Amino acid sequence: MRLTFGYGFVIIKYMSKCNEKNIVIIGGGGREHAIACCLNKRKGVRLFAIPGNAGISQIAECISHIKATDIDKIVEWVDKRGDIYLTVVAPDDPLAMGLVDKLQAKGHRAFGPSAAAAHLEASKAYAKDLMRKYNIPSAGYEVFEDRDKVLTYLKKADYPTVIKADGLALGKGVVIAGNYQEAEKAVNEMLVDKKFGNAGSKVVVEEFLKGFEVSMLAFTDGNTVITMASSQDHKRAYDNDEGPNTGGMGAFCPSEKYTDELHKLCMEAIYKPTIKAMKAEGREFRGVIYFGLMIDNGIPKVLEYNARFGDPETQVVLLRLKSDLLEIMEACIDGQLDKVKVEWDDNCTICVVAASGGYPEDYKKGIPISIGKIPNGAEVYHAGTAWSDKELVTNGGRVLCVTGKAKDMKTAKKLAYDGIKQVKFGGMFYRNDIGGKQ
Ligand code: AMP
Ligand code: GLY
Repeated sequence: MRLTFGYGFVIIKYMSKCNEKNIVIIGGGGREHAIACCLNKRKGVRLFAIPGNAGISQIAECISHIKATDIDKIVEWVDKRGDIYLTVVAPDDPLAMGLVDKLQAKGHRAFGPSAAAAHLEASKAYAKDLMRKYNIPSAGYEVFEDRDKVLTYLKKADYPTVIKADGLALGKGVVIAGNYQEAEKAVNEMLVDKKFGNAGSKVVVEEFLKGFEVSMLAFTDGNTVITMASSQDHKRAYDNDEGPNTGGMGAFCPSEKYTDELHKLCMEAIYKPTIKAMKAEGREFRGVIYFGLMIDNGIPKVLEYNARFGDPETQVVLLRLKSDLLEIMEACIDGQLDKVKVEWDDNCTICVVAASGGYPEDYKKGIPISIGKIPNGAEVYHAGTAWSDKELVTNGGRVLCVTGKAKDMKTAKKLAYDGIKQVKFGGMFYRNDIGGKQ
C-alpha cells in the first residue's frame, strides 16, 4: 500500500515536471529578480537565470558561470538542454548583440526585440534621427564624431547643454554641462580618452530640456502597444538630485503628474508613432519598449528610448501587474497583443536602492550583507548579490532594492524605508528622498 502510494507520488511529480514550462531569464539585476518573481507566480513554470544573483537563486536555478553577454554560450546552453520553452532577454547588451535573433534562428522562442529593433537604444544618434524623420517630439540635437567640430559648436552653444555618448554606457554616458569647460571635458572623455569605449566614438549634443520626468514602459508586438503603469526613476546618486548619474537609485509608481490627458497626448504623439516608425523602417519592435519623457507645461518630449524593461522601474511597475506576464510575453512574440488584457492593481509602489560605497565609480565587492526582518508589504529584490560559502555578499554597485506597496504613496514609502533600515553592509548608502519629488 505504502509502495503504491510512493510510486503514484513519483509518477504525479514526474508528469507535472513534463508539463512544466522551463523559462530562462537572461540577466542578474533587480529588474531580473522582479521579472522572475512575476513569472514564478504562475503554476507550472520552472525558472532558470543566466547568470542570476543570490536572490534569484531562491526561485530559479542560476547558471552563474555564463555571463549575460556570452551570447554564443547562452544559445549553446539552450540548445543542449533542449527543453527550454522561452528565453526572456532583459538587459540591453545581449539584445543589441542579437541574442534574440540567434535563438530564433535556431527555432527557440525568445522574448525581446531583434538587434535591428534594439538599435533604438544602442545608438542615441539613430534614435534622434528616427524621431526627426517621423516628427516625434524630442530635444534639438547635432551628432559629431570630430573633436574640433564639436568644440567649435559648443563654443557658441547655450548652457546648460547635454552631451551624450552615442552607444550603451550603463546609463552613465550623459553629461549635463553647465558651461563650455565642462562640455569640453565631457567631449575629451568620450572622444579622446574613450571612457565609454566605442560607445563614445560619436557624441550627441542636445538641447537641455526643463520639466518633470516620467518613465513609461510598454508591451508591443510590433503593431499594438499597451502601456504599463507610469513611474519615475531617480538617476542621481545623492539626495536632492545631487551627484553623478547612476543606473537608478529608486523609483515610484504611478507618477501622479502623469494625467489621463497627458497619457492620451503621449499615446498619439509618441508611443504609437514610434512603433509605426520602427515597422516602417523594417525594424519591427516586439518586446518591451521604454519611453523616458520630459514634460514641460503639458508638452511631452522623448529624452531616451530603451529597448527593454527599465531598472529600477520594473521593480515598482511589475509589483502592480494583475495579469499573467507569461501570457503577455507570448502575445508580444506571436503578434497577438490585441487579444490580451493587461490589468494593474490600484496600489502605489516605491523602491529604494541600497548601493555600494563609491558607486557609480569604483566600489568593493564581497562585503557581507545582513537582512533583518522586512515588514509585511515590503519586498527585497536582489541586484549585485552573491553567495560566498553560504554567506550573502555584495557583488555589484546597486546591491539590492527594497520595495513598498500600499494603497497610498505615503504608506508605501514608509514600508520601503522601514525595510531598507533592516539591510546592512559595510559602505552601504541609499537616497532618503525617493518618492519625495511628486
Ligand atoms: P538618458 O540616459 O538619455 O535618459 O539621460 C539620463 C538622464 O539625463 C535623464 O533621465 C535626464 O535626467 C537627463 N537628460 C537627458 N537628456 C536630457 C535633456 N535633453 N535635457 C535635460 N536633461 C536630460
Ligand atoms: N532606469 C532607466 C534605465 O533602465 O535605463
